[in-house]
Amino acid sequence: MKRGSFNSKLGFILAASGSAVGLGNIWKFPFEVSNGGGAAFLIMYLFFCFILCFPVIVSEIAIGRKTKKNAIGAFNSLGHRNWNFIGKMGVLCGVLILSFYTVVAGWVLGYVVEMVNGNFDISNNFGSYVNNIQNVFLYSILFMFFTALIVSRGVEKGIERAAKILMPSLIIIILMLIIYALTLPNSIDGIIFYLVPDFSQINLTVAGNALGQAFFSLSLGMGMLITYGSYVDSKNNIINSAALITLTDVGIAFLSGLIIFPFIFSSGIETEGGPGLIFQVFPKIFENLGDTTGVLVGSTFFILLSFAAITSTVSLLEVPVSYLVDEYKINRKYSVWIVAFIILLIGIPSALSQGKYEFFSQFITYFGSEKPIDFMTFIIDVSNDTLLPFGGFMITMYVTYIWRKKNLSEEISRGNPDYKGSAVEKYINFSISYVCPLILGSIFLITFLNKFFGI
Ligand code: PHE
Repeated sequence: MKRGSFNSKLGFILAASGSAVGLGNIWKFPFEVSNGGGAAFLIMYLFFCFILCFPVIVSEIAIGRKTKKNAIGAFNSLGHRNWNFIGKMGVLCGVLILSFYTVVAGWVLGYVVEMVNGNFDISNNFGSYVNNIQNVFLYSILFMFFTALIVSRGVEKGIERAAKILMPSLIIIILMLIIYALTLPNSIDGIIFYLVPDFSQINLTVAGNALGQAFFSLSLGMGMLITYGSYVDSKNNIINSAALITLTDVGIAFLSGLIIFPFIFSSGIETEGGPGLIFQVFPKIFENLGDTTGVLVGSTFFILLSFAAITSTVSLLEVPVSYLVDEYKINRKYSVWIVAFIILLIGIPSALSQGKYEFFSQFITYFGSEKPIDFMTFIIDVSNDTLLPFGGFMITMYVTYIWRKKNLSEEISRGNPDYKGSAVEKYINFSISYVCPLILGSIFLITFLNKFFGI
């Protein structure tokens, strides 16, 4: 069976940045920023992306390209079967992320329709909206259907082609919305909150969140880049690609802040942030723009979010699919629809956890905490804030002690002849064996103990 591959360098970069840019950048990033002291969070996030995550990105792509295998098979193919648990954890994590991501993406898709209909009142009814289960299921299933359709067409005709259309459109929409946001009254207050740091807000929880956010946003630590890297040919310059992917992701998260905060501050609406931020506050803002403008800006905004989300769900689905296709030789189309169906089932408790059923809405109380959290938040804690950074940490261990940095350099220099002996090589090697394990390992450990055990 022929394995897929990306047709062009640009195709790979767009697909991988498409995976990175998602709800994480536009839905999650702003409320993490507002909970984490505005610019103080931003600075930490940037540091994590460029210093800690960059070497992990490069390693994942190199492992994928070297082996031309899925996230689990890659470790087997390098002869380290014992280490394929990193890939197994990654596949599991991808399935968990996709299960709740589809629910949120379903809300987003539903909101497009609400905005087109000028139903701004929805902001006051978000609680009942997410518990209108039939509706939520309908849109989540629809979203998963589009995702599966793209993935079933394969790497070049599906994933790459979708990214080539959706990513440029997304960037155009973002730029239009920024220009518009900056013309609103008091938008400057939003910019000040966003860009002037309040360092007193920084503590370990915030650092842990920034780390989780960096991994989540870059789609890192779960083998997505191993999988996409396996579709890339050896002429590709991994360092340049990794830099472009990081810049696009960070750039779009940053730019979306330039839309969100001016909007919020100019509307004068008090908000406590949180996952409802976009859903509860934004329709009100659009309403204040007047009927026609409101409908136009509102639906454009949620279309933007849907575009961002679908290039991410595509990559999340591709990870388990590629595993089934490679290792069990199951036909791509079958794998896609089976996995999509199973993930929809796994997502049901998340959809029911927003107040519909008490069992899922107050699912678990961590040690040292009094407040029970809902099932969706629990899955987010386990996948984003735990499995991803841990996966990233294990990759750095694997490269340093098992695969060896010399092989990493060898693979990178295949598309980049000047790499060996360069400053970039020294930096990556140093970072991957000292900086990453130390900082990543300790922040991960501390926040893990703190979050789940209250230590
Ligand atoms: N990076 C995506 C986002 O920011 C989420 C994602 C995580 C996608 C992991 C793929 C893998 O929304």
